[in-house]
Amino acid sequence: MSNNRLFDREIDINPWIGITLIMTKPIIILGFAGSLRKDSYNKALLHAASELVPKDAKLEIFDLEAIPPFNQDLEDRMPQKVKEFKAKIRAVNALLIATPEHNYSVPGVLKNAIDWASRPYDDNSFEGKPVAIMSASPGMLGGARAQYHLRQVLVSLNMHAINRPEVIVASADEKIDEKGNLADEKTRKKIRQLLENLVDWTKKLERK
Ligand SMILES: Cc1cc2nc3c(=O)[nH]c(=O)nc-3n(C[C@H](O)[C@H](O)[C@H](O)COP(=O)(O)O)c2cc1C
Repeated sequence: MSNNRLFDREIDINPWIGITLIMTKPIIILGFAGSLRKDSYNKALLHAASELVPKDAKLEIFDLEAIPPFNQDLEDRMPQKVKEFKAKIRAVNALLIATPEHNYSVPGVLKNAIDWASRPYDDNSFEGKPVAIMSASPGMLGGARAQYHLRQVLVSLNMHAINRPEVIVASADEKIDEKGNLADEKTRKKIRQLLENLVDWTKKLERK
C-alpha cells in the first residue's frame, strides 16, 4: 500500500486490487476556555461543541491550567506548557475560544495565554488562523462585552474571526446543568451553526 499526498488529499493506492481511495483530511479545531474553574460554563460550551462539530472536522481541547504569568524575559526560553500551547495552535487548522466575562472584559487567564502564544514578535502562533468565539455567563448579557474586547485582540493577532452566529449564552446557570451538559436546544443549534461556518471559512482560507 503506497501513501501519496496530492494537495490536501491523502491518496491510498492498493496495488493488489487496484482501488484508489481518496480521503479528505479532517479540519482540526483547537478549543480553549478562558476559565480554570472545574465546573466552568465556558468549558461546558466547549464540551457541547465537541458533540456538535461537523463530520469532516475534529475538536481538540487545550486546558490553560499551568500556563504561568507572562514574563517577557522568558520569551527566548518559553515554559514547557507554553511551548506545547504554541505547537498545538500551529498544528491545527482553526481555533475556537470560549470566554467568560470578567469586569466587562476577557479574564486575565485568557489574555495571559494569548499574550504568550503571540510572542516572540516574529513568532505569533495565531498568525492568519481562522477563529470562532463563544461566551457564557450567568448574567443577562452572556459575556457580550468580553467578546467584543476579544475581537479587538484577534485583530492584533491578525486572525480571521467568524462574525455569525454570535454565540452569547446568557443565564448560563439555567442552560447548563451541574454535570456540565448544555441542554438548551437553541444554544446547541447556534453552536452547531458556528462550527459549520468555521469549517467552511477554514476551507475557503485554505482553498479546499
Ligand atoms: C473577577 C470576576 C469578574 C466578573 N465580572 C463579570 C462581568 O463583568 N460580567 C459577567 O457577566 N459576569 C462576571 N463575572 C461572573 C462570571 O460570569 C462567572 O463567574 C462565570 O461563571 C465565569 O465563567 P466560567 O463559569 O466559565 O468560569 C465575574 C466573575 C469574576 C470572578
